[in-house]
Amino acid sequence: MKALVLYSSQTGRTKKFAEAIRSVLPENTDFLPMEQAPEHFDDYDIVFAGIWFLDYKLDSVSRSVLQRLNAKKVAIFATMHRDLYSDEISKNLRQAVDLLPPHVWVAGTHVSYVNESIARTPLGKQESLRLDTLQDFAANTYERVLTAA
Ligand SMILES: Cc1cc2nc3c(=O)[nH]c(=O)nc-3n(C[C@H](O)[C@H](O)[C@H](O)COP(=O)(O)O)c2cc1C
Repeated sequence: MKALVLYSSQTGRTKKFAEAIRSVLPENTDFLPMEQAPEHFDDYDIVFAGIWFLDYKLDSVSRSVLQRLNAKKVAIFATMHRDLYSDEISKNLRQAVDLLPPHVWVAGTHVSYVNESIARTPLGKQESLRLDTLQDFAANTYERVLTAA
């Protein structure tokens, strides 16, 4: 079983979330920015895709990769500043899921909240991000895919 963690990040937060996911997955997990996404994804049983949103739209780098992300299974972890339980969150996630090629199985989705007041500033050295639920999500998703394989 092999996993890939891909991420798009401008201020560094989604990258930090991607690193947190990478740290709970097996040693042989690959880790790449979206800009370096491979051409084919046949080597992977699951791809974790880290995305973010700009004015209600999926960031452009993720948009170009998600639409050609021909992996068997994809788990999406998104960074957003909207209210975690709002309709906007579901609409944003749906936007990302709908971009994936039709046969892709979405193994899970997770949203990390970033306060809007700091969303434009680069990730600070002292800034602490909530990683525990994200890491649980990644470990559980990986385990489920492994069991089903
Ligand atoms: C100009 C701007 C617009 C944004 N628009 C949205 C949005 O429509 N919905 C949302 O949930 N988050 C929005 N965000 C929050 C980003 O998703 C958040 O800042 C995220 O941390 C960006 O990812 P990064 O830190 O990895 O660069 C916006 C952020 C910026 C700077």
